[in-house]
Amino acid sequence: DTDVWAFDGQVPGPEIRVRQGERLRVVLENRLTQDTSVHWHGIRLPHAMDGVPHLTQAPVKPGETFTYDFVCPDAGTFWYHPHARSFEQVGRGLYGALIVEEPSPPFVDREWVWVLDDWRLNANASLTEDFGNFFDMSHNGQVGNTVTINGRIPDRIGVRAGERIRLRLINVANARIFGPAFPGLRATVIAIDGQPVEPHLAADGKVVLGPGMRADVILDMSGRPGDSLSIVDGFYRQLPYKLVDLAYGAEAPLERPALGAVRLPANPLPEPDMARAERHDVVLGGGMMGGMMAATVDGKRVEMRAMMQQGLAWAINGVAAHGHTKMTPMLTLQQGQSHVLAIRNDTAWHHTMHPHGHSFRVLTREGQATSHREWQATILMAPRGRADIAFLADTPGDWMFHCHMLEHQDGGMMGIIRVT
Ligand code: C2O
Ligand code: CU
Repeated sequence: DTDVWAFDGQVPGPEIRVRQGERLRVVLENRLTQDTSVHWHGIRLPHAMDGVPHLTQAPVKPGETFTYDFVCPDAGTFWYHPHARSFEQVGRGLYGALIVEEPSPPFVDREWVWVLDDWRLNANASLTEDFGNFFDMSHNGQVGNTVTINGRIPDRIGVRAGERIRLRLINVANARIFGPAFPGLRATVIAIDGQPVEPHLAADGKVVLGPGMRADVILDMSGRPGDSLSIVDGFYRQLPYKLVDLAYGAEAPLERPALGAVRLPANPLPEPDMARAERHDVVLGGGMMGGMMAATVDGKRVEMRAMMQQGLAWAINGVAAHGHTKMTPMLTLQQGQSHVLAIRNDTAWHHTMHPHGHSFRVLTREGQATSHREWQATILMAPRGRADIAFLADTPGDWMFHCHMLEHQDGGMMGIIRVT
């Protein structure tokens, strides 16, 4: 057993389920000894409900409560987590799944929600308590030594031959990128970050999820009674590991006419008008081996060495953010206008960039058009990679834009996008 911080005494926190278009009302009561808040990751909601302390609401102090109350306009797989000292609060176990069901969900025999996390544990299973250390912050973020599905290290999960499973994957890890492969199964991705996508087989058979990302995957269990298969995650070439075994029971395969492909109905997202979109450059800089010499901190130019002494290592467009306060907008976007962010990762590390309040289409990666123009809320950027993303700025407010590798966020890789 590991001592954690938890919502309602459990890790993951309670799974919240609503129907698309329903109103969700959640009372947060802070029994921590530090400020907190709850952010509803990927949900398009009014600014005041977005859960960012100092930006969209006052921090919820120990002993205080705050009521979140909003409508969930998009069906899909979402999640929630604090937005205060996230590298510690999320890292200690504060997160949960938020599932918004389609009005008529596609037929499946079973649905699994897998909240994927990793932990850095001592031999006695206690947390190493080195949250926010400068080494993690300036390199990969905190990649742990123990991976869990829904807060446990599962050994095997039983399945039945012939059944169809909808697997909802949620990466809540501080910094680990997951890339599970499903050997022998046709793993069909039907949604990314909660948003429906043209059904397709995962590239290289791996469902790659940066921190904060989700995927809905259809698994048709095409093996025979008594078979088993290992789901292996080889995203990091030096660190492959077995996530879990799926074991077919002895029951006879389910008999029925072949099931068709699952295609989810589109969500009511505002389509960006590409003919009139404004283009903005977003350059990610810093980190070890990134060559960044200096950045602007609190309005002043600061050399990298001095930044490091303040616990900063990263910048967006040359600005390193220092906590959630005192940030000036990195971009000011006109409401009702379409925008392209041309994101360039000038660092030697992966990042998962997440703008709040809006989902976006991924138009290009490394200069090539994407095959599905997928909607996402969080984009995994390869080292030195590039991506163009587009969205219509429809909800006013000062919205966070940050790396979801939580140590990178704390180390300066965040900013504000103002929609006005
Ligand atoms: Cu999931 Cu700003 O966060
Ligand atoms: Cu990052």
